[in-house]
Amino acid sequence: MTRILPVAGPADAAIEEAAALLRAGGLVAFPTETVYGLGADGLNPAAVARIYAAKGRPATNPVILHVADAASAQTLVSHWSPEAQRLAERFWPGPLTLVLPASGTVPSIVRAGGPSVALRCPAHPVALALIRATGRPLAAPSANRSQHLSPTLAQHVASSLGEAVDLILDGGPTEAGLESTILDLSRGRPCVLRPGPIPPADLEVLVGPVDLWEGAVRAGDRQAAPGMAERHYAPRARLQLVAPGSGLPETPGGTLFGTSGSVAYVALGTLPPLPPGVRGILLPLDADLVGARLYALLHELDDAGCERIFMERPPEDEAWLAVRDRLRRASAKEQP
Ligand code: TXA
Ligand code: MG
Repeated sequence: MTRILPVAGPADAAIEEAAALLRAGGLVAFPTETVYGLGADGLNPAAVARIYAAKGRPATNPVILHVADAASAQTLVSHWSPEAQRLAERFWPGPLTLVLPASGTVPSIVRAGGPSVALRCPAHPVALALIRATGRPLAAPSANRSQHLSPTLAQHVASSLGEAVDLILDGGPTEAGLESTILDLSRGRPCVLRPGPIPPADLEVLVGPVDLWEGAVRAGDRQAAPGMAERHYAPRARLQLVAPGSGLPETPGGTLFGTSGSVAYVALGTLPPLPPGVRGILLPLDADLVGARLYALLHELDDAGCERIFMERPPEDEAWLAVRDRLRRASAKEQP
């Protein structure tokens, strides 16, 4: 069994133990304010290679380096722009990842061979204490098998990665529930590669107009960023989006979804009438609350053996951008 250590706060003895494991090249999963990360010493290529192996992650998909402050971030880039400075001052620690031109200190495997590095300072006392105790930037993708749902609980990490991780620090449920906003500052106009808890409008106040990478808003066949595969963040159950209030879609045979008990319907705001046997789940019509709850709910439905999930399409406004993005990816067709 993978070891799971509860950690009460930044002074907990578990943090020093985890830091020692990381310095020795081990893998430690830890809580952040977004989702759990699978951490390794970001300056040790062999340790980072273990992350890729544990996740089954393609070598073409770079990882984020987590730092404790902007000063550490500056040692990892070749150019720290005024925009980066303003954003870091305003949003760090917090769920914003900045993509910047990498300095020579960043191992190639972290960048997947590319010229840039993604940096983030997480707003979680345990994550920050762990980075400081280790004394290195921590490479940390979400702590799940590649293409699967991100973990918002320590238990999700254990069931997705099992023995592949040396230690899991359990800091309880994560707060934001969706991964950080990723902003590319490494070329031309700033571009949001992945929508997240910080909406583009909040970034624009500081850096002027930002682009939204088209793959982040609608299905596309090109990948701007290596990790932006269309199907991603997906539950095992088949997820299908439906119009709000529509109830279960009609099926040619009639009662296909009526009795099996393996079908769930997730409503936003109001639960419509549903056939017997269908598990109805009501979420509030509030983007932050749905974001915080979404992955945990999909994990629960998977664990309950649910085979099909129908979920109401969220509203079109910007507040729902990150939730829409994750739902679109989670419901995309499996790629060969
Ligand atoms: O909230 C988060 O960001 C979480 C927590 C653990 O910090 N981390 C996370 O990491 O979501 P991951 O690896 O699951 O997703 C990071 C994304 C990937 O899609 C990757 O392709 C992209 O960031 N990325 C990493 N480095 C990049 C780079 N240099 N240029 C463009 N995209 C990059
Ligand atoms: Mg991920």
